[in-house]
Amino acid sequence: MLSRITLLALQVLAISAKTITYNWDVDWVSASPDGFLRPAVGINGQWPCPSIMADVGDRVVVKVHNCLVNETTAIHFHGIFQQGSNQMDGPAMVTQCPIPPGESFTYDFMIKQTGTYWWHAHVGGQYLDGLRGPLIIHDPEAPFVKEIDEEIVLTVSDWYHEQAPYLIQYFQSGLNEDLHGGSEPVPNATLINEAQNVHFPIKPNKSYLFRVINMGGFAAQYLQFGEHDMDVVEVDGVYTKRHRVSQLFVAAAQRYSVIVKSKRNATQNFAITASMNEDMFDEGVIPVNLNPLVTGWLVYDETKPLPPSPPAINYDGKSQNDIKFIPLDMQKPLGPVTKQIPLNVNFSQNVQNQNRGSFNNISFIAPKVPTLYTALSAPAELVNNPLIYGNNTNPIVLKMGEVVDLLITNYDGGAHPFHLHGHSFQVIARSGAGPDNGPPLTIPKNYSKNAPDAPLRRDTILIYGNGYAVIRFKVDNPGITLFHCHIEWHVEAGLTMVFIEAPTELQKLGLVIPDSHKDVCNKQGIHMKGNAMGRSGGSWLDLTGTPTLPDIDDWGALIESAQPTTVPGANPDPVNPKVRRSRVARFTDSWV
Ligand code: C2O
Repeated sequence: MLSRITLLALQVLAISAKTITYNWDVDWVSASPDGFLRPAVGINGQWPCPSIMADVGDRVVVKVHNCLVNETTAIHFHGIFQQGSNQMDGPAMVTQCPIPPGESFTYDFMIKQTGTYWWHAHVGGQYLDGLRGPLIIHDPEAPFVKEIDEEIVLTVSDWYHEQAPYLIQYFQSGLNEDLHGGSEPVPNATLINEAQNVHFPIKPNKSYLFRVINMGGFAAQYLQFGEHDMDVVEVDGVYTKRHRVSQLFVAAAQRYSVIVKSKRNATQNFAITASMNEDMFDEGVIPVNLNPLVTGWLVYDETKPLPPSPPAINYDGKSQNDIKFIPLDMQKPLGPVTKQIPLNVNFSQNVQNQNRGSFNNISFIAPKVPTLYTALSAPAELVNNPLIYGNNTNPIVLKMGEVVDLLITNYDGGAHPFHLHGHSFQVIARSGAGPDNGPPLTIPKNYSKNAPDAPLRRDTILIYGNGYAVIRFKVDNPGITLFHCHIEWHVEAGLTMVFIEAPTELQKLGLVIPDSHKDVCNKQGIHMKGNAMGRSGGSWLDLTGTPTLPDIDDWGALIESAQPTTVPGANPDPVNPKVRRSRVARFTDSWV
């Protein structure tokens, strides 16, 4: 029975809950956040893109119209569980068809969580080109709410001068493999709030809640405020015990809320500095003049001078271990664990001379039918059979109620920020970096016994080079749950897999696929039923022809024939992107 107080709270929620509708024309605009003019993917003629601001209990409707002309799009709401609304999750060819140019598509979901999130394109590395923004959910009952005088969103991100489709082709080319061992493109700049030299006006003697989001596609960032400490109170949407730090380490896609107390007297201004973690960049491809730093200012008094930013951030080793952020609810390790899934992360050169990422030696290649539609259309007796989802998506079927440990071992020398859709997971164990040239550190057999009493909970975790982590979650959110490295280059290189979470229950949810979702599939001739190869009827188990290698298309060839000596620099018209070469459908061009 609900207590009277709960009932009252529910009523208040019902009265204040509202529908927030966004109409977004996604189109190219020109942007120069660091002084270099380039095309960016903006919304309604603007870049940076707008934030989504909601209260817990609201319904959010985002009507997307793709005006890009030369690219498909798709939008994901990072960290939103989409409980009961998996069809709104956003990743192209996983829970929907990509939205082709000229078409519209509506996302429509209830907000049941609170905290700091973000939204971003989830197709073809497109968020690297700018299609990304904060998503903030206010909670009238947040533990720190009474103390806060003002709230400020602060994003950090890396930024490239070249467009993502071009860089992806280059990154996945044999040329890059031969010349640079398959190195990732290194960003050209760091941004705070998608700009540089931003002023944050501050009043003395107040408490500010900074909502910090790394919206970048590659680099982890160190963030610090000159002479102001930060009290961490939220990690990826989970309230945490207050913990003071002087420097924050934020991997791609991670978020923190921090309370910053302003000084009693405004006698000077202070620098805010963010710096990319250059350890993630391969030696030999870092541009000599790269400035990894970006500066902003806490401005108490506009008439006073701005102090210079520090020439470099002295990385504080302690800032890198997020295990210290303890959930406020003190949730114990879930259990008993019913399934352990070892996942070995690796990179290797394939027979097409491409540098590909893999989990357990399987590199992700998109299916011909979005995986959600396969699950929804499958006969009940086959929906739990991983075969129908295609080996190329690396599917693992999970049963409702299972408590799962992912035992992730990183055989790669680089650090990777891994993100699970649909959940916050508990970090049961996690190592630092292993020996430079491997082999990776081994997950101790008794890792479970040594788990923290109240493990860190978040949706994106950095796993260090040749290190490991064990993360735990409960299967309670029927749907297709993507798991991937949040470095966009690695998504493109196949470091992605899917969990088919409680498919029997998923079929019983009665998810409604709106017409706009069907239309975009029909327009491109993408089937909405059948196995990963689009076969159904008597052929559900026929996966003949499942690709084991990515379609190389013009990857690499374009670079090698057109620009044999130039490394990235090929946009024929830097201001008008519509004249440049680009594949119209980022995932689907070779189909039908
Ligand atoms: Cu933030 Cu699958 O993404």
